[in-house]
Amino acid sequence: MQIFLDTAEITEIEARAGLIDGVTTNPSLIAKSGAGVFDRIKEIAKTVSGPVSAEVVASDYDGMLEEGRKLRALGDNVVIKLPLTAAGLQACREFHAEGVPTNVTLCFSLSQALMAAKAGATFISPFVGRIDDAGSDGINLLEDIRAMYDQFGFETSILAASLRHLKHVEGAALAGCDAATLPVKTFDQLIKHPQTDLGLDAFMADWKATGRDGLV
Ligand code: E4P
Repeated sequence: MQIFLDTAEITEIEARAGLIDGVTTNPSLIAKSGAGVFDRIKEIAKTVSGPVSAEVVASDYDGMLEEGRKLRALGDNVVIKLPLTAAGLQACREFHAEGVPTNVTLCFSLSQALMAAKAGATFISPFVGRIDDAGSDGINLLEDIRAMYDQFGFETSILAASLRHLKHVEGAALAGCDAATLPVKTFDQLIKHPQTDLGLDAFMADWKATGRDGLV
């Protein structure tokens, strides 16, 4: 499973270089960063070699195509993020025909995931945390999308999004998702374990007690 960082902050991306497979952004994250969209996406696309999702803000088909093309011109690894609306799916179909990668976002149902795959989406982003917030089961939706895509042989990659804690990430992995995007807080939890810290402290204390300096 690929691991993407869900952020528009360069420092957060640089600090995790070599550990992430790509980046996702959205209008809220770019707004929070205070940066200009085009400058910031260009910078992120240079910082990571993997896919960088950049979202359109137009709501009509022509506007989405125009913005998507401008975003795509910022880097070969830029993926055009489109909302799961009728216009978004139509734009997705056009980008697919042109060979431009897409990430169809704000997916909350199996039928939406079906329509995105039929439109040729490269990635579908089901919002697990927000589904849980609404009282449903986000991981269950991931499992259902996996089963449906396998049944029909759809090539669209499932990108689990809106992941709030480790159980979400582990659930996405067990559901067979192709990728997951995580905010920094959740990403850092992936690696940390108190027993690892305790074990390492003990190893280092024993080694220091020998009086030896380094591996000698
Ligand atoms: C994904 O592409 C979105 O940017 C993100 O995962 C949304 O997460 P949130 O529901 O925590 O805002």
